[in-house]
Amino acid sequence: MDTCLEIRQVVSGYGYGTVLRGATLNVPRHEMTCLIGPNGAGKSTLLRAISGLIAVQSGEILLDGMALQGLTPRQILEAGVVHVPQDRSLFPTLSVWENLLMGGFIIRDSGEVRRRASALEERFPTIRQFHNAHAGSLSGGQQRIIEFARALMLEPKVVLADEPSLGLDPKSRTLVFETLTAMSRDGITVLLVEQNARSALRVSDHAAVLELGTVRIEDRAANLLDNPEVGRLYLGASAAAHRRLPHAAHVRT
Ligand SMILES: Nc1ncnc2c1ncn2[C@@H]1O[C@H](COP(=O)(O)OP(=O)(O)O)[C@@H](O)[C@H]1O
Ligand SMILES: [Mg+2]
Repeated sequence: MDTCLEIRQVVSGYGYGTVLRGATLNVPRHEMTCLIGPNGAGKSTLLRAISGLIAVQSGEILLDGMALQGLTPRQILEAGVVHVPQDRSLFPTLSVWENLLMGGFIIRDSGEVRRRASALEERFPTIRQFHNAHAGSLSGGQQRIIEFARALMLEPKVVLADEPSLGLDPKSRTLVFETLTAMSRDGITVLLVEQNARSALRVSDHAAVLELGTVRIEDRAANLLDNPEVGRLYLGASAAAHRRLPHAAHVRT
């Protein structure tokens, strides 16, 4: 396995409380990895530890072998890891285009920022369609797409996406998952946290179950879909009754 992001025995939390208790996970390059697990397991905390928003007490987080723990969020961003948080993060009263430009805030050359934004506009019809609209006037799903596009402004190696389908209707959810799939096909390494475990596993290549701050199972996503214990605990009903869709042929093994 060609690992892009390696999380080794990470211990982290808030104040005196430990949430992550030795979490270990390999995130393969150019693939989509999904992290599932019960509420409060520490999924968002792990993403925050990776992006430097909270301190790593012990353990290592390696991006292509380079230690990220101890770096500032800005340094981690510059190293190529962009975090799309769970809460809506667009500036609602700015236009979609202005929000996109914000994604390039650490790039000094304003011409380069515009070039990248224009290239993303070519690729994302939602940006073309709503260029001048206030970001806050878009639907939840459309806002998520703009957030992903904004994350791509820095041409990251890794995108961390925290529950992007939360609160979306089924159609928007599909669009969000399709956008993430397209990003991973374009060579971005994606680490996706999801409550919609079945939908997320179907579009992912690799996967892990986080429980009580440790990764209890890590395997190819297709194997997790077929794992009876995962089916019973996280996928609802019997796993056999909800076989993978035949069109999930992009799942690389
Ligand atoms: N900002 C915070 N301050 C203190 N405790 C927090 C904070 N955010 C989350 N926690 C606690 O950390 C634990 C893991 O939370 P979280 O990582 O959000 O779980 P998940 O994303 O898997 O639902 C929970 O017990 C939660 O209450
Ligand atoms: Mg969370």
